Amino acid sequence: MKIPRLHIGTMVSEIPLVQGGMGVRVSLASLAAAVANQGGIGTISSIALGDINANSKKYIQTSNEALIREIRKAKGLTSGNLAINVMEALSNAAELIKSAVKEGIKMIVMGAGLPLKLPEIVADDSVNLVPIVSSGRAAGLILRSWDKRYQRVPDGFILEGPLAGGHLGFSIEQLEKIDDYSLEKLLPDVLSTVKSYQEKYGKKIPIIVGGGVYDGKDIARMLSLGASGVQMGTRFVCTDECDVSPEFKQAYLESSRDDIVIIKSPVGMPGRAIKNKFLRDVESNGKYRIKCKYRCLSACKIDKAKYCIAKALLNSWAGDVDHGLIFCGENAYRINKIVSVKELIAELCADLKAA
Ligand SMILES: Cc1cc2nc3c(=O)[nH]c(=O)nc-3n(C[C@H](O)[C@H](O)[C@H](O)COP(=O)(O)O)c2cc1C
Repeated sequence: MKIPRLHIGTMVSEIPLVQGGMGVRVSLASLAAAVANQGGIGTISSIALGDINANSKKYIQTSNEALIREIRKAKGLTSGNLAINVMEALSNAAELIKSAVKEGIKMIVMGAGLPLKLPEIVADDSVNLVPIVSSGRAAGLILRSWDKRYQRVPDGFILEGPLAGGHLGFSIEQLEKIDDYSLEKLLPDVLSTVKSYQEKYGKKIPIIVGGGVYDGKDIARMLSLGASGVQMGTRFVCTDECDVSPEFKQAYLESSRDDIVIIKSPVGMPGRAIKNKFLRDVESNGKYRIKCKYRCLSACKIDKAKYCIAKALLNSWAGDVDHGLIFCGENAYRINKIVSVKELIAELCADLKAA
């Protein structure tokens, strides 16, 4: 079998694989460029790149500068396809997107909220806009709104299921009935939602599915169900090129199935993480003192939050995992070695071909 290419608007990827954006600082230039060099789409996370202890003006400025640095670094390492990931809930989302577009990034992936105003921020239609959704209903809301207000439709959707890492677009109640929300069940709904808009605009709106996609067999199954590609995060954490600390990667290698839990994030959404010393301390100690000069997430409930999520994720990124949150996908416990991105993608492609 020939591995199909992935077309997203003006972008063509040699293999149908997007490396998902991972914050905080987990997927930066090194990982994204390595994936792009192997024919996939590498995504730089734009979250909390600036000085989180600075005031608002300084935070926005240092975040923009850091994102521009990462984009330039990645472009120095690859001529392949790069994207940036932005959370809708970020207070400085618009500034980050504008900086990325100025630097020549051609794909903006936006999740953690409905990006209803994204076309207002990016007028250039050679930049591909890809919202992340968790249901056909959310895809329908975005399609209707963009069609009506901007006469435009997304260039693709990432459909993220409940087995993904990081924040999840499902309620705790939905996650208790996780099998009802499998990608196999969600995908047909999203495919039928986009159908009439594809006809109206005369273009394909590819659906890229993510959350629990682990090997080439999984990729083959998703393609056979009508997905145009897959987005993978967890497996890329345990690669040489991943930008996170060795301690973070080691926590994946040492985790067992029972260590992987659903948490209620201070942002107000559920998330998936490894139950480590930090999470046990949060459970027994109650609340950590939060010093916050700038609300980096507009949805953050500082008065109710038990810890600052940006600080907790930064601690893990830097290697202090005992004081940090370690986001991961449901399948993190299955990984038992660190490999290069080249090895991982070669294995995925070989299994995909065989499947
Ligand atoms: C450590 C980690 C951090 C993540 N951070 C983000 C993020 O900041 N924004 C986002 O849209 N998705 C985030 N994700 C989700 C990934 O982009 C991807 O969609 C998801 O992990 C796919 O599922 P998988 O991990 O089972 O492959 C994160 C995932 C992980 C594992």
